[in-house]
Amino acid sequence: MSIDLRSDTVTHPTAAMRQAIATAEIGDDVLDGDPTVKRLEERIAAMLGKDAALFFPSGTMANQTGVWLMSRPGTEILLGTGSHVMMYEAAAAAALCGAQVRPVQGKGLVMDAESLRAAIRPASPYTLSASLVCIENTHNGAGGVITPLAEMKAIREVAREHSLGVHLDGARLWNAHVASGTPLADFASCADTVMVSFSKGLGCPVGAALAGPAALMRDGWMVRKRFGGGMRQSGFLAAAVLYALDAHMDRLKDDHARARRFAKAVDGVNGMRVVPPDTNIVMVDLGPGGDAEAVVERAAAKGVLVSAWTPTRLRACFHLDVDDAGTDEAARVICSS
Ligand SMILES: Cc1ncc(COP(=O)(O)O)c(C=O)c1O
Repeated sequence: MSIDLRSDTVTHPTAAMRQAIATAEIGDDVLDGDPTVKRLEERIAAMLGKDAALFFPSGTMANQTGVWLMSRPGTEILLGTGSHVMMYEAAAAAALCGAQVRPVQGKGLVMDAESLRAAIRPASPYTLSASLVCIENTHNGAGGVITPLAEMKAIREVAREHSLGVHLDGARLWNAHVASGTPLADFASCADTVMVSFSKGLGCPVGAALAGPAALMRDGWMVRKRFGGGMRQSGFLAAAVLYALDAHMDRLKDDHARARRFAKAVDGVNGMRVVPPDTNIVMVDLGPGGDAEAVVERAAAKGVLVSAWTPTRLRACFHLDVDDAGTDEAARVICSS
């Protein structure tokens, strides 16, 4: 079997998770509620320090529900360069909400408060106004980069000064929390709505949640329905998440250690340079003349799957289904491909 580092979404449920799924108490979540989904939503709201949370089939739908709830047609959404909301959600902000996304280049790898402040345009009859700021923490496209709490707070202050809502794409907020030790609720307090994903580092087959103030989440219930996210016996999926919150959170530190181990083994070989990983994602810039697609193909033939992130950059993600031996083998293969 291949060592699959293309994404942290490729994991398969463990035997214990399958058992939790098989024995879940279920209902009809659209009709009159599913008890296991309800338990999950309450638990997520409490973990994030928010009034309420809603369970979603995907992070994209949860992100776009947050965007729908807080942006307005004909306004702009300010977000970091390379954000998932802008790059990988099928232009949903434009297609569904009628809002324009505008990337803000940070001074470092991710958006910072000062760059955000500079990007906000003064009110004028000639320029459209902003309605929303989106933060992604950790930032996938930048290489699993953590925005520290102090910077998150500073971004929140800039947004407040301009009466802008803040949505946090926290698909990998778990990783930011485990790597930095910052409580989840502290990160979440910097945003009005927070998306967290269960199908990445936590190793669940499906799911995400959106958390926020009670009134917004009441509206969010109907938006989720409109987007096609009303699920019926979804307690089966929620049971996997409840299991993972107990069993798979602390072990994220192992993914981070393996990312560092891989990065150390690869950095400098054949001119390759890594972005030092904050969490579970390693970006590898190839040496002069490097061709990422060609390396991906040669590595796949030797049983190691990675992504070509750009023509000269590889991305490797560490997760539940990769151990130390797999990490070392992956590094060996990449160094010889
Ligand atoms: C940062 C980030 N946000 C949102 C998503 C969307 O999640 P989903 O694939 O569940 O729609 C992803 C998925 O990779 C992601 O990496």
